[in-house]
Amino acid sequence: MKQSVALQLKGRDFLTLADYQPEEIEYLLDLAKEIKLNQKQGKVYQPLKGKVLGLIFEKSSTRTRVSFEAGVYQLGGTGLFLSSNDIQLGRGETIADTAKVLSSYLDGIMIRTFAQADVEELANNASVPVINGLTDTYHPCQVLADLQTIQEVKGTLSGLKIAYIGDGNNMAHSLMLGAAKMGVHFSTAAPEGYLPDETIVQKAKEVAVGSSITITTDPIEAVQDADVIYTDVWASMGQESEQQAREKLFSAYQVNQELLIHAKPDYTFMHCLPAHRGEEVTAAVIDGGHSVVFQEAENRIHAQKALMIALMGQEV
Ligand code: CP
Ligand code: NVA
Repeated sequence: MKQSVALQLKGRDFLTLADYQPEEIEYLLDLAKEIKLNQKQGKVYQPLKGKVLGLIFEKSSTRTRVSFEAGVYQLGGTGLFLSSNDIQLGRGETIADTAKVLSSYLDGIMIRTFAQADVEELANNASVPVINGLTDTYHPCQVLADLQTIQEVKGTLSGLKIAYIGDGNNMAHSLMLGAAKMGVHFSTAAPEGYLPDETIVQKAKEVAVGSSITITTDPIEAVQDADVIYTDVWASMGQESEQQAREKLFSAYQVNQELLIHAKPDYTFMHCLPAHRGEEVTAAVIDGGHSVVFQEAENRIHAQKALMIALMGQEV
């Protein structure tokens, strides 16, 4: 079973969790756990020796860039940071031409950009695996690390409830799909007009493995009896001009002690980071005893190592 899942992952793209079966996600989480344990024990494991991953960034990054670069290096390979300002893509070379050329040099391409369609176009024209490092629509790498973190903290995934409070953005979409696929109940609250994309909600409902999806404008309803409370910035990269308007619109959606009274007493707080203390979450919550945001950030490197090995590694 494990062997056949490993085989079906070789050479695949990772564009959205919608394309991944629950057993494939579970395989990646198991591998991430094993890799983390090995690293803590100081074991050297280099299945990506000689492999090169290109990292195209059209947006800023701390965690994604550093965890991919350090991760591929620790696995024996090399990462190439390709800012779109420095490669010809930023001067109008087509995505298709870029994909074909880069495929002849590299063993994998990670891209962080705006439109999901651009990542799809890159993947359609590349002959090496393409990994989505965040678009306006999805952030699947983050959710692999999030699921790993929840498993570590709660010991399980299936049957838990995650409440995502805030903008129906890339994080909301990927978390909803990841939760649905892993049997985790998902509820989200945002102001009208800022809820997750209806098509993605429908998709998540179709693939949900015995878990529910609740979409509401009421944050108290969303956090009711939740095991995990998650939030993200109110204005994502590319929405900087809307920052002030969004601060007003979302003010009733701040994750604070008052709201958390409605969650389970042993709730876990999560945030993909970077965070704006005093906006989407209070400092008391994100820096408090229920918060696992740094464990979650650390898991980016373990989860992505698992992903790179599964997609780009040679041995099964
Ligand atoms: N969470 C996350 O993707 O962080 P970066 O934007 O720093 O990569
Ligand atoms: N929603 C945020 C996530 C950052 C990791 C953004 O897209 O800016």
